[in-house]
Amino acid sequence: MKKQFKLLSIILVAAIMTAALAGCAERNRAPQVDEQDLTKDTSVLVVYFTWSGHLDSMAHWIADETGGDILRVLAKNEYPESYNDTADRAKKEKDDGVRPEITVSLTAEQMAKYDTVFIGFPVWWYDLPMPMWTFLESVDLSGKTVNIFFSHEGTSDGGSALATIKTLAKGATVNTDNALSIRGSKVKNSEEDVREWVKELGYSK
Ligand SMILES: Cc1cc2nc3c(=O)[nH]c(=O)nc-3n(C[C@H](O)[C@H](O)[C@H](O)COP(=O)(O)O)c2cc1C
Repeated sequence: MKKQFKLLSIILVAAIMTAALAGCAERNRAPQVDEQDLTKDTSVLVVYFTWSGHLDSMAHWIADETGGDILRVLAKNEYPESYNDTADRAKKEKDDGVRPEITVSLTAEQMAKYDTVFIGFPVWWYDLPMPMWTFLESVDLSGKTVNIFFSHEGTSDGGSALATIKTLAKGATVNTDNALSIRGSKVKNSEEDVREWVKELGYSK
């Protein structure tokens, strides 16, 4: 019985990763450039990670709709341009519990500006990409509201990512019931949906 379950899990993982690969076949790694504006008169921060750019689009729509600041989390050691190499490295980092060094850090003073943090990421290996673990462990989110948006190629419930954020964002009110999930291939036509989600949450400026 146990063996059968293991086999089933392997088949399932293989199927989802094939779908994910197919979804990414025509895409490349987005430019690995810093993206941040922490200067607005706002209590909202939009922080995100992206490899092929979907989350970049979603994060900018949300920042525009909320009037919030924006911050992209980047790994110091860039992920490879090749999807397969990135998938391999990400898998190893997750299996080994690695916290990759990131290029951004926010001081407690900078964080004090925000009441609400929107956290965005692509699902990586059914969880949060490890650079976002690094980020979430580097800031104090207690007392803040956290809203979640993500993209995927099949893991539409985010896998373990929402539970991970809840664990890492200690003392925050994590809004897991209203997380925004959009399939990667649908992101480019989803601006209205993303803005509508922000409006429904009550954060439209
Ligand atoms: C390393 C890696 C692992 C991934 N793992 C999953 C996964 O477990 N489940 C899934 O549905 N999609 C997975 N994907 C697909 C991405 O979540 C999806 O393509 C997403 O839209 C990418 O967002 P981005 O363009 O902001 O990087 C994975 C992609 C990469 C690069």
